[in-house]
Amino acid sequence: MNQLYYGDNLQVLRDHIADESVDLIYLDPPFNSKRDYNLLFKSPKGVASEAQIEAFEDTWHWNEQAEREFDELLHQPNTSVADMMAYLTMMANRLLELHRVLAPTGSLYLHCDPTASHYLKIVLDGVFGKENFRNEIIWKRTTSHNDAKNQYPDVTDTIFYYGKTEAAPFRRQFIGYSEHYLTTKYRHVDAEGRRYRLSDMRSPSPRPNLTYAYKGHEPHPNGWAISLEKMKALDECGRLEFPKKQGGRIQL
Ligand SMILES: C[S@@+](CC[C@H](N)C(=O)[O-])C[C@H]1O[C@@H](n2cnc3c(N)ncnc32)[C@H](O)[C@@H]1O
Repeated sequence: MNQLYYGDNLQVLRDHIADESVDLIYLDPPFNSKRDYNLLFKSPKGVASEAQIEAFEDTWHWNEQAEREFDELLHQPNTSVADMMAYLTMMANRLLELHRVLAPTGSLYLHCDPTASHYLKIVLDGVFGKENFRNEIIWKRTTSHNDAKNQYPDVTDTIFYYGKTEAAPFRRQFIGYSEHYLTTKYRHVDAEGRRYRLSDMRSPSPRPNLTYAYKGHEPHPNGWAISLEKMKALDECGRLEFPKKQGGRIQL
């Protein structure tokens, strides 16, 4: 607790951080930006048949064939492929350590951008299990750096959020509405000064069992959205507003 380590995080994690001892990890690693990744998935040269069998089985294991192809990838002339592999290898090793130190109820947030986010998602799914992926949070930057000349402007970063297990807690986030939203969307005010909005009570699809008259008011041909019991309960709490005339309408 309350320690700051200086050094390569792989070594620090291995030497100093105990298994399952961390509740929250946020990392902002190098993004490997300004690289061309397009060729990462170029077919490896030769030995296609075994690969095809494995692809057909849809299950991939690290075996001699994979080892050979990996070696081939690293040594073929397009160095951007090897650079990407180096980056992902660096990240995968550290993510494995981060996974190890995270408590079963812990969470990890990884900040990156589109230059590597799709590749990192695959590595993260491998390390954490894709069932533990919670969200891709999009972080909108304030300006597009005037980069919209030959493409759409690049204005977002990405934060991947994973729980170590499904037991990792999530605290629901609440944020106050803006004054503009409140005054435009909650246009009505009750006797106590509390703002509210009206919405219609009609069923979105035909519900013959919810088709009943309430206090003399006939429903929309689809029926009401709620049962008579719930209608009465809402009425008792003063949460229903009736048209002035039978068959009349309220401006929502
Ligand atoms: C994208 S920057 C983070 C910037 C930082 N969050 C900030 O707002 O200033 C990536 C950082 O990771 C650090 N870094 C790269 N490899 C590392 C390693 N193996 N161990 C520890 N830190 C590393 C770099 O020095 C760099 O500061």
